[in-house]
Amino acid sequence: MPENEERASFSGKVGFVLAASASAVGLGNLWRFPYLTSHYGGGIFVIVYIILAVTFGFSLLIAETALGRKTGKSCISAFGELCSKYKWIGVLAALVPILIVPYYCVIGGWVTKWFAESAMGGLSTLASSGYWVSFVTGGETGDMSDPTAWFLIFALLCVVCVAVGVERGIERLSKILMPLLLFMIIGITIYEFTLPNIWDGVVFYLNPDISKLNAGTFMGAISQIFYSMSLAMGIMITYGSYMKKSVSIEKSARNVGVIDTGVAFLAGLMIIPAAFAYDHPDAQSIGLMFTALPDVFATMPGGEIVAPVFYLLVLFAAMTSAVSLLETVVSVFVDLKAIKRKKSILISIALILVLGMMSVLGFGPLATDIPLLDGGAGWLGIFDTITNNFMMPIVALLTCIFIGYVIKVTVITDEVKADGNAFVSERLFEVMIKYICPVFLALMLIVAVTITFGIYSPY
Ligand code: PFF
Repeated sequence: MPENEERASFSGKVGFVLAASASAVGLGNLWRFPYLTSHYGGGIFVIVYIILAVTFGFSLLIAETALGRKTGKSCISAFGELCSKYKWIGVLAALVPILIVPYYCVIGGWVTKWFAESAMGGLSTLASSGYWVSFVTGGETGDMSDPTAWFLIFALLCVVCVAVGVERGIERLSKILMPLLLFMIIGITIYEFTLPNIWDGVVFYLNPDISKLNAGTFMGAISQIFYSMSLAMGIMITYGSYMKKSVSIEKSARNVGVIDTGVAFLAGLMIIPAAFAYDHPDAQSIGLMFTALPDVFATMPGGEIVAPVFYLLVLFAAMTSAVSLLETVVSVFVDLKAIKRKKSILISIALILVLGMMSVLGFGPLATDIPLLDGGAGWLGIFDTITNNFMMPIVALLTCIFIGYVIKVTVITDEVKADGNAFVSERLFEVMIKYICPVFLALMLIVAVTITFGIYSPY
């Protein structure tokens, strides 16, 4: 991402789409979407997700991008620029990546471990029963040094990228590596279709079971949309501020949405049926991606080569997202505290270490016992729930109210039309931002509170 002091802009039409997609496509698509789909009943969750993505996700992506381009500012200053009383919404949004990036690095560490292990001929170890659980919990001895080391390695990789400022290079590389990842996901899925017992999982994934639809499905889907599309945390506002006036916001948002949702859909199709075929007891847990795929690779001809290449590409996708998160965190401190970038990087490192270690050790000595909030995933689950189910819907709700009722929707729609093209979905956008999004998001917050405090249980 370009430096704050001199606001550079993305090159041409594809610059924004590339950078925003590199941020959006990551562990959210490959790790989070599949296990949530399993958890919320398969096909019905997929349908709800897609419907919400093309309505809510698309509208919010347009809103945030236009907010950024209109003001030419990153998240905190963008709200303040349009109405100084509301700068705090930007501050709240900026807090989200601070809580996400540490645990994102923990999961990035798992991917790094899976890459290294498979590259060193350890595919059968990864595929052995109960391996992921024993890895994250430290096994029988409870020794947490392995998950700690891999978390630190991934975090270090990201910090170095941000400190050295190679984001532009990474983005260029992602032009080649992202399509390659997509190609591999499709290839692996085609292979899986030749396996026995695969079809039960395919039916579960593609055939919606209406009886499993409840308020929890919507809550899970909307939080996943924010997470996956990098919304409600300021990042798309910053990316919008680097977008040229001549580029169509609407078309760009559509492209980013289609790429992100497409990758999530295909990742689910690759992972969920595999979990069914190999009968994984933890099919609904956060370990799904790490348990289901090694079995597939272990039986696949040439799996010893396919596995490390695949994990390397996932690692790359995770890094592009983590770097964009970390970059946001660093610039938040620069913006808020007017401190130097170097010092801001040091604060970010300290936060990653403290909160990241809480997430790692939450599977061992720091295990918590907060029902529902941690979803069985310890501190990692707590950070995930607080950000996804509470903070992001609040930020998105406030953003809609800010646009719809404080600055007025026309400020944003005029910005969308500033490239000279018609805003095809203008009417939908207006209705979404002013009425549907705020009401729906308020309901989702009520659902989140009632589920968390055990008042309502959709399961
Ligand atoms: N969208 C990313 C993913 O799906 O993995 C996560 C993320 C990256 C969120 C960067 C926010 C962000 F700024």
